[in-house]
Amino acid sequence: MSGANSVTSNQETLHKDLEEVVRKYARTTFLRPIADHTREAFAEVETFVEKFYGKNGDPVPAQGRDDMVSGVTNAIRDGAPGANAETAPRAVILDSGCGTGESTIHIARRFPGIPVIGIDKSCARLNKAGNPSQTAGEDVPANAFWIRAELLDFWRLALDYVKACKWTIPYHAVYYPNPWPKQSEATRRFHMHPIFPTLLALGKTIELRTNWEIYAREFAEAARIVFDERAEAGMTTKTGMTIKCESFDPITPETAFERKYKEARQTLWRAIIKKSKLN
Ligand SMILES: C[S@@+](CC[C@H](N)C(=O)[O-])C[C@H]1O[C@@H](n2cnc3c(N)ncnc32)[C@H](O)[C@@H]1O
Repeated sequence: MSGANSVTSNQETLHKDLEEVVRKYARTTFLRPIADHTREAFAEVETFVEKFYGKNGDPVPAQGRDDMVSGVTNAIRDGAPGANAETAPRAVILDSGCGTGESTIHIARRFPGIPVIGIDKSCARLNKAGNPSQTAGEDVPANAFWIRAELLDFWRLALDYVKACKWTIPYHAVYYPNPWPKQSEATRRFHMHPIFPTLLALGKTIELRTNWEIYAREFAEAARIVFDERAEAGMTTKTGMTIKCESFDPITPETAFERKYKEARQTLWRAIIKKSKLN
């Protein structure tokens, strides 16, 4: 897979309409009807999550680092009144646009106490998920699960669960989404689409990876604009929120695209958005 082309675009800096488009969508809700197949897919995921945590909500024992690894939510851990394993939100990690699903395995190993859901609309790519070349001969981690679904719909269903305190999403991976580099296609980029406020509302930490610096910078800037706009409207608070955009060198590539870009010696970029509160 060597020789990957770097992104070519007729855009040399942040898109001229970025601010206007992002501000327009910051206070609106994306209303397109949700497809039945994604509702069915979401129900399958819910079943996996419930089984993972056990029939009566017993969380899988935590193994290791802070709240990111434990399936036990902060509320239970901190002994909040009324919080118990049956009613507490389930921690769930999303790997959106997981492609052939390699990253889902890496993330599942990183967070063994939390179900990690790899989501993609491509059946052909998902069919490769979990095959032995990806797992280096080891078993697929028990907390990894893949589902075919439309992200724009899946994210809205997931946000309903977050708002209903059924789920909490400590980490959301958005690795190497299609960059839509032509200026005329910019509104297909996730951060210039009406879905973006939903994507931002979903997770405590959102990590976007890309081989196109402009995409990472736009994503980070769009996040700043949405938080500004929503804070102004009293819809959220900016306290404890950080947005970082940087180049990075993955020692071990975690996705098929990441490997391809690394072999081609391209610079990789990531935007990391962290909120101090879960969702
Ligand atoms: C460039 S590939 C990256 C795949 C993987 N993350 C990697 O790094 O190897 C982008 C993936 O996102 C998926 N995708 C794009 N838009 C999607 C959508 N709206 N719903 C579900 N999957 C989507 C595509 O099918 C594709 O597998």
